[in-house]
Amino acid sequence: MIFNEDYAKFYDMLYSDKDYTSECNFLEEVFKRYSKIPVRSILDVGCGTGNHAAELIKRGYDVVGVEPSEPMASFAVKKGIDVVLGKVLDLPNFNNKFDAVISMFTVIGYIHDTNELIDTFKWIRQHTNHLFIFDFWNGNAVLTQKPTIGKKRISDEYYRVKYPKLITNDHVVRVKQTIYDNSDNIIVEEEHVVRYYFPREIEHYLNDAGFRLIGLFPCWRLDRDIRDTDWDIVAVAEVI
Ligand SMILES: C[S@@+](CC[C@H](N)C(=O)[O-])C[C@H]1O[C@@H](n2cnc3c(N)ncnc32)[C@H](O)[C@@H]1O
Repeated sequence: MIFNEDYAKFYDMLYSDKDYTSECNFLEEVFKRYSKIPVRSILDVGCGTGNHAAELIKRGYDVVGVEPSEPMASFAVKKGIDVVLGKVLDLPNFNNKFDAVISMFTVIGYIHDTNELIDTFKWIRQHTNHLFIFDFWNGNAVLTQKPTIGKKRISDEYYRVKYPKLITNDHVVRVKQTIYDNSDNIIVEEEHVVRYYFPREIEHYLNDAGFRLIGLFPCWRLDRDIRDTDWDIVAVAEVI
Protein backbone atom coordinates (compact mmCIF):
# COMPACT_ATOMS: atom_id res chain seq x y z
CA MET A 1 0.00 0.00 0.00
CA ILE A 2 1.39 3.43 -0.94
CA PHE A 3 0.25 6.90 0.07
CA ASN A 4 0.04 5.40 3.54
CA GLU A 5 -0.55 7.36 6.72
CA ASP A 6 3.07 8.38 7.32
CA TYR A 7 3.55 9.57 3.73
CA ALA A 8 0.15 11.28 3.56
CA LYS A 9 1.04 13.36 6.64
CA PHE A 10 3.90 14.92 4.68
CA TYR A 11 2.11 15.26 1.33
CA ASP A 12 0.87 18.85 1.57
CA MET A 13 4.20 20.02 3.02
CA LEU A 14 6.10 18.17 0.32
CA TYR A 15 4.07 19.87 -2.42
CA SER A 16 3.57 23.26 -0.77
CA ASP A 17 5.38 24.74 -3.80
CA LYS A 18 2.95 23.15 -6.27
CA ASP A 19 0.82 25.85 -7.81
CA TYR A 20 -2.68 24.38 -7.50
CA THR A 21 -4.20 27.82 -8.16
CA SER A 22 -2.56 28.10 -11.61
CA GLU A 23 -3.52 24.52 -12.39
CA CYS A 24 -7.14 25.37 -11.62
CA ASN A 25 -6.80 28.48 -13.84
CA PHE A 26 -5.65 26.11 -16.58
CA LEU A 27 -8.65 23.83 -15.99
CA GLU A 28 -11.05 26.77 -16.20
CA GLU A 29 -9.40 27.89 -19.46
CA VAL A 30 -9.91 24.39 -20.84
CA PHE A 31 -13.59 24.45 -19.77
CA LYS A 32 -14.01 27.83 -21.48
CA ARG A 33 -12.32 26.79 -24.73
CA TYR A 34 -13.38 23.19 -25.13
CA SER A 35 -16.44 22.31 -23.11
CA LYS A 36 -19.61 22.15 -25.18
CA ILE A 37 -21.67 22.37 -21.99
CA PRO A 38 -21.38 24.72 -19.01
CA VAL A 39 -19.18 23.09 -16.36
CA ARG A 40 -20.71 23.12 -12.90
CA SER A 41 -19.92 19.69 -11.49
CA ILE A 42 -16.55 17.97 -11.49
CA LEU A 43 -15.35 14.52 -10.47
CA ASP A 44 -11.71 14.52 -9.31
CA VAL A 45 -10.29 11.01 -9.75
CA GLY A 46 -7.31 10.41 -7.44
CA CYS A 47 -8.07 13.61 -5.57
CA GLY A 48 -5.39 12.88 -2.96
CA THR A 49 -5.47 15.46 -0.16
CA GLY A 50 -7.98 17.49 -2.17
CA ASN A 51 -6.02 20.55 -3.21
CA HIS A 52 -7.56 20.95 -6.67
CA ALA A 53 -10.99 20.07 -5.33
CA ALA A 54 -10.75 22.64 -2.52
CA GLU A 55 -9.72 25.39 -4.95
CA LEU A 56 -12.47 24.47 -7.43
CA ILE A 57 -15.12 24.42 -4.69
CA LYS A 58 -13.94 27.92 -3.69
CA ARG A 59 -14.58 28.96 -7.30
CA GLY A 60 -18.16 27.71 -7.14
CA TYR A 61 -17.99 24.21 -8.67
CA ASP A 62 -19.61 21.13 -7.14
CA VAL A 63 -16.75 18.68 -6.73
CA VAL A 64 -16.63 15.06 -5.63
CA GLY A 65 -13.35 13.19 -5.20
CA VAL A 66 -12.49 9.54 -5.65
CA GLU A 67 -9.41 8.37 -3.80
CA PRO A 68 -8.12 4.87 -2.91
CA SER A 69 -5.81 5.93 -0.08
CA GLU A 70 -7.80 6.41 3.11
CA PRO A 71 -5.08 8.56 4.76
CA MET A 72 -4.87 10.86 1.72
CA ALA A 73 -8.68 11.06 1.54
CA SER A 74 -8.92 11.95 5.24
CA PHE A 75 -6.98 15.17 4.57
CA ALA A 76 -9.34 16.01 1.70
CA VAL A 77 -12.35 15.37 3.94
CA LYS A 78 -10.89 17.78 6.52
CA LYS A 79 -10.86 20.41 3.74
CA GLY A 80 -14.62 19.87 3.32
CA ILE A 81 -14.48 17.63 0.26
CA ASP A 82 -16.92 14.85 -0.38
CA VAL A 83 -14.70 11.82 -1.11
CA VAL A 84 -15.65 8.35 -2.24
CA LEU A 85 -13.04 5.83 -1.13
CA GLY A 86 -11.54 3.44 -3.67
CA LYS A 87 -10.13 3.14 -7.15
CA VAL A 88 -12.78 3.86 -9.74
CA LEU A 89 -12.97 0.19 -10.73
CA ASP A 90 -13.86 -0.64 -7.11
CA LEU A 91 -17.01 1.46 -7.60
CA PRO A 92 -19.23 -0.34 -10.16
CA ASN A 93 -22.40 1.05 -8.58
CA PHE A 94 -21.35 4.68 -8.50
CA ASN A 95 -24.00 6.31 -10.65
CA ASN A 96 -23.47 10.07 -10.55
CA LYS A 97 -22.52 11.94 -13.73
CA PHE A 98 -20.43 15.11 -13.84
CA ASP A 99 -19.93 17.87 -16.40
CA ALA A 100 -16.19 17.14 -16.40
CA VAL A 101 -13.81 14.56 -14.93
CA ILE A 102 -10.29 15.54 -13.95
CA SER A 103 -7.41 13.34 -12.79
CA MET A 104 -4.44 15.42 -11.79
CA PHE A 105 -0.76 14.88 -11.00
CA THR A 106 0.12 11.61 -12.64
CA VAL A 107 -2.76 9.60 -11.17
CA ILE A 108 -2.97 7.40 -14.28
CA GLY A 109 0.76 6.67 -13.96
CA TYR A 110 -0.19 4.59 -10.92
CA ILE A 111 -2.19 2.32 -13.22
CA HIS A 112 0.34 -0.08 -14.73
CA ASP A 113 -1.85 -2.59 -16.48
CA THR A 114 -3.09 -1.55 -19.94
CA ASN A 115 -6.47 -3.25 -19.61
CA GLU A 116 -6.99 -1.64 -16.21
CA LEU A 117 -6.24 1.76 -17.76
CA ILE A 118 -8.73 1.20 -20.60
CA ASP A 119 -11.37 -0.02 -18.12
CA THR A 120 -10.68 3.06 -15.97
CA PHE A 121 -11.14 5.30 -19.02
CA LYS A 122 -14.39 3.42 -19.82
CA TRP A 123 -15.62 3.95 -16.26
CA ILE A 124 -14.80 7.66 -16.54
CA ARG A 125 -16.61 7.77 -19.91
CA GLN A 126 -19.74 6.61 -18.08
CA HIS A 127 -19.43 9.41 -15.54
CA THR A 128 -18.64 12.50 -17.58
CA ASN A 129 -21.12 14.53 -19.57
CA HIS A 130 -18.37 15.87 -21.79
CA LEU A 131 -14.70 16.53 -20.90
CA PHE A 132 -11.97 14.37 -19.35
CA ILE A 133 -8.70 16.11 -18.43
CA PHE A 134 -5.66 14.33 -16.99
CA ASP A 135 -1.88 14.60 -16.98
CA PHE A 136 0.74 11.91 -17.33
CA TRP A 137 4.47 11.31 -17.81
CA ASN A 138 5.45 11.58 -21.46
CA GLY A 139 7.36 8.44 -22.46
CA ASN A 140 9.34 10.40 -25.05
CA ALA A 141 10.68 12.72 -22.34
CA VAL A 142 11.34 9.94 -19.83
CA LEU A 143 13.38 7.95 -22.35
CA THR A 144 15.36 10.89 -23.69
CA GLN A 145 16.01 12.67 -20.39
CA LYS A 146 16.05 9.67 -18.01
CA PRO A 147 14.92 10.06 -14.39
CA THR A 148 17.55 11.24 -11.93
CA ILE A 149 17.95 11.29 -8.15
CA GLY A 150 16.32 14.38 -6.64
CA LYS A 151 16.51 15.93 -3.20
CA LYS A 152 13.83 18.29 -1.96
CA ARG A 153 13.53 20.26 1.25
CA ILE A 154 10.21 19.69 3.02
CA SER A 155 10.69 21.91 6.07
CA ASP A 156 13.45 22.96 8.44
CA GLU A 157 13.20 19.46 9.91
CA TYR A 158 12.69 17.12 6.96
CA TYR A 159 13.79 16.45 3.39
CA ARG A 160 12.84 13.91 0.74
CA VAL A 161 15.08 12.03 -1.67
CA LYS A 162 13.73 10.29 -4.78
CA TYR A 163 15.76 7.34 -6.08
CA PRO A 164 14.40 6.34 -9.50
CA LYS A 165 15.03 3.20 -11.51
CA LEU A 166 13.89 3.10 -15.11
CA ILE A 167 12.46 -0.27 -16.21
CA THR A 168 12.03 0.21 -19.94
CA ASN A 169 10.49 -3.18 -20.69
CA ASP A 170 7.58 -2.37 -18.36
CA HIS A 171 7.31 1.33 -19.32
CA VAL A 172 7.69 2.25 -15.65
CA VAL A 173 9.96 4.11 -13.30
CA ARG A 174 10.29 2.60 -9.83
CA VAL A 175 10.79 5.58 -7.55
CA LYS A 176 11.92 4.96 -4.00
CA GLN A 177 10.76 7.97 -2.00
CA THR A 178 12.55 8.41 1.30
CA ILE A 179 11.82 11.13 3.82
CA TYR A 180 14.65 11.88 6.25
CA ASP A 181 14.92 14.10 9.26
CA ASN A 182 17.80 16.51 9.57
CA SER A 183 19.90 13.90 11.32
CA ASP A 184 19.48 11.68 8.22
CA ASN A 185 17.21 9.19 9.99
CA ILE A 186 14.69 7.57 7.67
CA ILE A 187 11.19 8.64 8.68
CA VAL A 188 9.14 7.30 5.77
CA GLU A 189 9.92 5.07 2.82
CA GLU A 190 7.61 4.15 -0.05
CA GLU A 191 8.21 2.84 -3.54
CA HIS A 192 6.03 4.52 -6.16
CA VAL A 193 5.92 2.72 -9.48
CA VAL A 194 4.90 5.20 -12.16
CA ARG A 195 4.10 4.15 -15.71
CA TYR A 196 4.87 6.56 -18.52
CA TYR A 197 2.71 6.65 -21.62
CA PHE A 198 3.30 7.70 -25.20
CA PRO A 199 1.06 10.28 -26.88
CA ARG A 200 -0.35 8.01 -29.58
CA GLU A 201 -0.98 5.10 -27.21
CA ILE A 202 -2.97 7.39 -24.90
CA GLU A 203 -5.03 8.50 -27.88
CA HIS A 204 -5.67 4.86 -28.79
CA TYR A 205 -6.80 3.94 -25.24
CA LEU A 206 -9.05 6.99 -25.11
CA ASN A 207 -10.65 6.06 -28.45
CA ASP A 208 -11.16 2.52 -27.19
CA ALA A 209 -13.04 3.92 -24.21
CA GLY A 210 -15.29 6.20 -26.28
CA PHE A 211 -13.34 9.47 -26.09
CA ARG A 212 -11.85 11.72 -28.77
CA LEU A 213 -8.55 13.39 -27.95
CA ILE A 214 -8.94 17.15 -28.36
CA GLY A 215 -5.28 17.84 -27.67
CA LEU A 216 -2.12 17.14 -25.70
CA PHE A 217 -0.47 20.14 -24.08
CA PRO A 218 2.55 20.83 -21.89
CA CYS A 219 1.56 21.21 -18.21
CA TRP A 220 -0.08 23.77 -17.78
CA ARG A 221 -0.42 25.81 -20.97
CA LEU A 222 -2.49 25.73 -24.12
CA ASP A 223 -0.31 27.90 -26.35
CA ARG A 224 2.03 25.33 -27.89
CA ASP A 225 2.37 21.70 -28.93
CA ILE A 226 4.11 19.15 -26.75
CA ARG A 227 7.81 18.41 -27.27
CA ASP A 228 10.05 15.49 -26.31
CA THR A 229 11.38 17.65 -23.48
CA ASP A 230 7.95 18.00 -21.82
CA TRP A 231 7.96 15.37 -19.07
CA ASP A 232 4.47 16.20 -17.81
CA ILE A 233 1.77 16.54 -20.39
CA VAL A 234 -1.96 17.02 -20.11
CA ALA A 235 -4.61 15.37 -22.24
CA VAL A 236 -7.93 17.02 -22.99
CA ALA A 237 -10.51 14.57 -24.28
CA GLU A 238 -14.23 14.68 -25.01
CA VAL A 239 -16.88 12.01 -25.19
CA ILE A 240 -17.62 10.78 -28.70
C1 LIG B 1 0.55 12.11 -6.94
S1 LIG B 1 -0.98 11.85 -6.11
C2 LIG B 1 -1.97 13.19 -6.75
C3 LIG B 1 -3.04 13.62 -5.78
C4 LIG B 1 -3.83 14.85 -6.21
N1 LIG B 1 -4.57 14.63 -7.44
C5 LIG B 1 -2.93 16.06 -6.34
O1 LIG B 1 -2.87 16.63 -7.44
O2 LIG B 1 -2.32 16.46 -5.35
C6 LIG B 1 -1.64 10.46 -6.94
C7 LIG B 1 -2.94 10.00 -6.31
O3 LIG B 1 -3.54 9.00 -7.15
C8 LIG B 1 -4.17 8.06 -6.30
N2 LIG B 1 -4.38 6.84 -7.11
C9 LIG B 1 -3.49 5.87 -7.37
N3 LIG B 1 -4.07 4.92 -8.15
C10 LIG B 1 -5.34 5.31 -8.38
C11 LIG B 1 -6.44 4.77 -9.09
N4 LIG B 1 -6.36 3.62 -9.77
N5 LIG B 1 -7.62 5.45 -9.10
C12 LIG B 1 -7.72 6.62 -8.45
N6 LIG B 1 -6.71 7.19 -7.75
C13 LIG B 1 -5.54 6.55 -7.72
C14 LIG B 1 -3.20 7.91 -5.14
O4 LIG B 1 -3.79 7.31 -4.02
C15 LIG B 1 -2.76 9.36 -4.94
O5 LIG B 1 -3.57 10.04 -4.00
